[in-house]
Amino acid sequence: MQSILQCMDCQQQYPINQLLYTCENCGGLLDVIHDWSGMMLTHELFDNRLGSLEFPYNSGVWRFKELVYPTVDNSMIVSKPEGNTNLYPLPKLADWAGVEKLYLKHEGENPTGSFKDRGMTSGVTQAQVLGMERVACASTGNTSAALASYAALADLDGIIFLQNRAIALGKLAQGIAYGATCIRIDADFDRNLELVREVSKRLNIYVLNSVNPFRLEGQKSIMFEALQQLKWQVPDWIVCPGGNLGNSAAFGKALKELYDLGLIDKIPRLAVIQAKGASPLYQAFTREFEDFEPMKAETIATAIKIGNPVNYKKVVRAIEWTNGFVEMVTDQEIMDAKALIDNSGIGCEPASAATLAGTRKLAAKGIIKPHETVVGILTGHVLKDPDATIGYHSGTLEDISPKHPNLLLESRDDIEEIVALLTNKSDTVKANL
Ligand code: F0G
Repeated sequence: MQSILQCMDCQQQYPINQLLYTCENCGGLLDVIHDWSGMMLTHELFDNRLGSLEFPYNSGVWRFKELVYPTVDNSMIVSKPEGNTNLYPLPKLADWAGVEKLYLKHEGENPTGSFKDRGMTSGVTQAQVLGMERVACASTGNTSAALASYAALADLDGIIFLQNRAIALGKLAQGIAYGATCIRIDADFDRNLELVREVSKRLNIYVLNSVNPFRLEGQKSIMFEALQQLKWQVPDWIVCPGGNLGNSAAFGKALKELYDLGLIDKIPRLAVIQAKGASPLYQAFTREFEDFEPMKAETIATAIKIGNPVNYKKVVRAIEWTNGFVEMVTDQEIMDAKALIDNSGIGCEPASAATLAGTRKLAAKGIIKPHETVVGILTGHVLKDPDATIGYHSGTLEDISPKHPNLLLESRDDIEEIVALLTNKSDTVKANL
């Protein structure tokens, strides 16, 4: 049977190839629902494809095709491939965070440097199914980089609405380089999302923000792949940053589906971490989700500078499904955690470091217990936002005093001076130990 679209609120169903983002009946968010009856879905099916050279199963998204979009014809799939990102065991960072076992899955290792490629391969594939010629999104920078790249791959016109002047340089460069039509608008992300939805309706453009349920189907594969890398042994916690809440919504759906299909024997708890200045989900969580108040967002983690997340309701559901938790961290905590992730040789952009800062906070509060295993998601590559990194280490970021600075040393062309510098430096390091 074909997959269908279904409203999460009123359960109204629609055919899979109807161009729709929200319910016509009640305005609710849509889920893609697959019919798995009669399918043999086993660990072996997915494990046998590991290391495959065959399209599309060489992708860390389409290796799980049956769980992502079982009925799509392979000829429609637009894949680089993506996914197949590393899961790093990091004992030193685990120590710092106060947990026994910590793995960080680095989604910055995707082709355009963020987890967005996983949602973009499924979203652009659906654009092909629907015969759309133009695709668009509003973005804090990573979705737009992925959209621009996948639109180019599929020979579609990519259009991106960028938030005011806060976009990180690496991300802006990608959108332009990959050839999308880039419009920098004097509005924040939340307003740009409204604008792109209106303009796209007028001009028959396909919207590829995470309000599009096909995006989330691809993003589910982060959970599938992490669990497969753990040989299907379920960790106690999944921790990720939250902005527009597409990723955490996708994680909830993925975990529920794996459990319902008998592919995992328990559901890990999902912890969503927000930046303090962009924390409407956290604020609602403290009120037991009784009401939701959008806010004007401000944070150094520009990727998650979002005050009115479109997937709020889906994440409330994900928190319920997973007995999850929501936490917030300050910009100072984010940047100090980032310095440690960077210093471990892995590196990430600021928003991703909310994962580690949040894990530490939850462990300190006793929500995450010391013996529990945590899988944290790093969402973006260290090169996405070089200004934030250099600013931190040189102490020039407003309201942030770096706890782990790596000072840039300078010397004249003089051997004695360099030797003195290195001798002093090793003395300083020793003194600090
Ligand atoms: N981390 C990074 C690096 C991101 O780029 C984003 C979202 C998130 C976390 C949050 O994920 O929105 O699913 O809760 N970036 C979007 C963009 C909004 O336009 O690139 P989310």
